[in-house]
Amino acid sequence: MAGPLLLRGTVMHVPRDPFREGGALEAFEDGGVLVDAGVVRATGDFGELSRRHPGAAVDDRSGALILPGLVDAHVHYPQVPAIGAFGMRLLEWLERRALPEEARYADAGYAAERADAFLRLLAANGTTTAMVFGAHFAPAMDAFFGAAERSGLRIVAGLTVSDRNLGEALRTTPERALKQGLELARRWHGRGRLAYAVTPRFALSCGEGMLAACRELLAAVPGLYLTSHINENTEEIAGVRALHPEASDYLDAYDRFGLVGERSVLAHDVHPSPRELARLAEAGAAVAHCPSSNLTLGSGLFPLRWHIDAGVRLALGSDVGAGVGFGLFKEALAAHQVQMLRPDGELLDAARALYLATGAGARALGLGELVGDLAPGKQADLVVVRPPPGSTLAELLRFAGSAEAALSAVLALAREESIEEVLVAGERVHRRGGGTGGSGPGGGPGLDAGAPAGP
Ligand code: GUN
Ligand code: ZN
Repeated sequence: MAGPLLLRGTVMHVPRDPFREGGALEAFEDGGVLVDAGVVRATGDFGELSRRHPGAAVDDRSGALILPGLVDAHVHYPQVPAIGAFGMRLLEWLERRALPEEARYADAGYAAERADAFLRLLAANGTTTAMVFGAHFAPAMDAFFGAAERSGLRIVAGLTVSDRNLGEALRTTPERALKQGLELARRWHGRGRLAYAVTPRFALSCGEGMLAACRELLAAVPGLYLTSHINENTEEIAGVRALHPEASDYLDAYDRFGLVGERSVLAHDVHPSPRELARLAEAGAAVAHCPSSNLTLGSGLFPLRWHIDAGVRLALGSDVGAGVGFGLFKEALAAHQVQMLRPDGELLDAARALYLATGAGARALGLGELVGDLAPGKQADLVVVRPPPGSTLAELLRFAGSAEAALSAVLALAREESIEEVLVAGERVHRRGGGTGGSGPGGGPGLDAGAPAGP
């Protein structure tokens, strides 16, 4: 087995929550990350680490930035071809762009091909952990989980279910949803780096019977996640009120069926009420903020401070295909821009923005002990950022006078062409212009497992 490896480069991470714990950017200009058996053993100054660990092989990435793997808490597998629609709000976009594409995943061959492409692009953008909104077809999800296992990424996903309001092709029954969900969850949940999420599409496409089936599935398999959408668009919210008159608000439509808990991640929440915020915090549920999607569909300006003040856990989501691409750096940039436009906006410096794209997502998914920063004991999930020579970002980094300036430049400008290499648990899952690795079946430590024991 290979011995310890010392990666050399400009290392940056945010090990403590800058919104609640006074965390700040930790940066080492000539830094190093010592990795052994897939785990970070030490992070710090390169000279000091090389003196303390003279036996470690050095992988010199000088000139590149080494950051924690990015965490995307909300991204749709069957929507990549729907990226980049102009001039539509949510319901029109779903009908005209997203749902016709999603109906194609009834074809298992197409679904399998799209799964490989989706996961490749996720890794190519520096994302190492993602909560993925699935397709509406069980064979498509079986193919997706198989591809996810081969990719080496940490993936939480599930069969998307609906029995109202979408076209016939995407509807199922509560009985069928439960049966197929049980089969998929039993096959894939907890296998390698995979986990299963019960996935009612949104309260506008699920009647009470379907939400009850979701509750039953959650109860049947321990440790499942739940993901859905909430409070994204005012027209959608009015529709939910009409479809669920017994619910006091959008959140209550889920909560009445026991779907709001510590392993629930709800996307958007652009228009929450004080009651909903308090209840999300009480239940320990997390919200995935999807700024580029909210801008593109005109859904609104996310009230980030309200969530922080209420004590709601937050993460970032690319929300591909309403969001404009997989990159979490550009989501962090958009999150900052949105806050600048709100009278009560929460100012995001570069450290806070990086935290939203890394540690915040890890914690929102309950994986904060495992990933999200480069502290000793964490899994070695890393992104190596090196812009193409001659690019605007390369030019900026030459003149960045501080770690904050360099990180701000990366957040503003780094896209997939600047991602040189991506590791999960020390194993390569992406290399620019070249082959991907992946752990293969049974290769890596479990997504939910603690760091492997060892020296
Ligand atoms: N609400 C229900 N489905 C979707 C979707 O696919 N994208 C977004 N942005 N919101 C949704
Ligand atoms: Zn979504």
